Amino acid sequence: MRQAGRYLPEYRALRERVDFLTLCKTPELAAEATLQPIRRFGLDAAIIFSDIMIPLEAIGARITFDPVPRVAEPLRTRAQIDALRARPMAEVVPFVGEVVTRVRRELGGQVPLIGFCGAPFTLAAYLVEGKGGEGFGEVKRMMFAEPDTLTRLLELLADAMAEYLTLQIAAGAQAVQIFDSWAGILSPEDYRRFALPAARRVVQRTQRGDEPVIYFAPATGHVLEEQLATQADVIGLCWRTPLDQARPRTEGRVALQGNLDPHALLAPPEVVRRRALAVLDSAGDHPGHIMNLGHGILPDTPIESVEALVETVAARVRSEA
Ligand code: CP3
Repeated sequence: MRQAGRYLPEYRALRERVDFLTLCKTPELAAEATLQPIRRFGLDAAIIFSDIMIPLEAIGARITFDPVPRVAEPLRTRAQIDALRARPMAEVVPFVGEVVTRVRRELGGQVPLIGFCGAPFTLAAYLVEGKGGEGFGEVKRMMFAEPDTLTRLLELLADAMAEYLTLQIAAGAQAVQIFDSWAGILSPEDYRRFALPAARRVVQRTQRGDEPVIYFAPATGHVLEEQLATQADVIGLCWRTPLDQARPRTEGRVALQGNLDPHALLAPPEVVRRRALAVLDSAGDHPGHIMNLGHGILPDTPIESVEALVETVAARVRSEA
């Protein structure tokens, strides 16, 4: 989940100097933002500082942030989608590889580094709507009225994201996470027909060695079993599906990640501790649990809550060792 961001004073200080896009595109600064939470908290992994919208420039999309992402010319027609040409990631977003290399060097093996991308359906939802989170009428209209047009866009995005993850892994990313933030708006049938095959195509076409792939699609408990077919090694859960229910439903075939509600961090530290322990308890003593939030950290999260969370998990791990 998101680690850096506006809840950190040192991040806000960086953002006073540069806008969000400049921050993402300047390797030295993006590396600094990546390392900020690692220096402050005893986290077990770092996630590269970027955004799921950044690589969309490779297919010609123009993106701005205020702070939510906006797409200059939403993709609404078959003709627009047919005209898309994917340019090589190494030419369009070379800075992402540089951030990975830089962070790996600075981490010096202290903790592993996670790369990431958006899943095709989630990116398509942004590209067709032109913005996110304010309804999905347009992408659903395309899905029902012109399913082949949507499928074409999804395939193009899947190939672009496989290339993007391959670039990050080649540069040194030790795991990659695919964010399918909007897949939860789909019925089981439409998830199986559109979001799932596109996400699987990313997993299958990413060139990797033993680097695991994490697939995270919040609010998709109604299609948890289906997510095994993405062929991801880890399924991330939001807080809606308890870990002890997810374990039998995924038949022990994947590791699970999650799933403390990030809003819990808005409560006093003792509540954070209690709720974090409850998540660890529901994970039980099965191998293959990555403790995490069930979604991105909120901008008004107190630092003390993150400290309480990390300390609680570390103490439990020590007591079990
Ligand atoms: O933890 C990290 O340091 C990794 C960086 C990261 C960002 N975005 C930075 C960011 C990651 C992993 C993301 C993923 C992302 N971006 C997702 C998937 C996760 C999810 O939340 O479902 C999505 C849907 C996006 C698109 C996006 N980018 C949104 C909706 C927003 C606005 C969110 C907000 O908090 O206002 C962004 C902007 C963004 N991406 C910010 C950050 C730190 C805030 C920008 C700022 O500093 O002004």
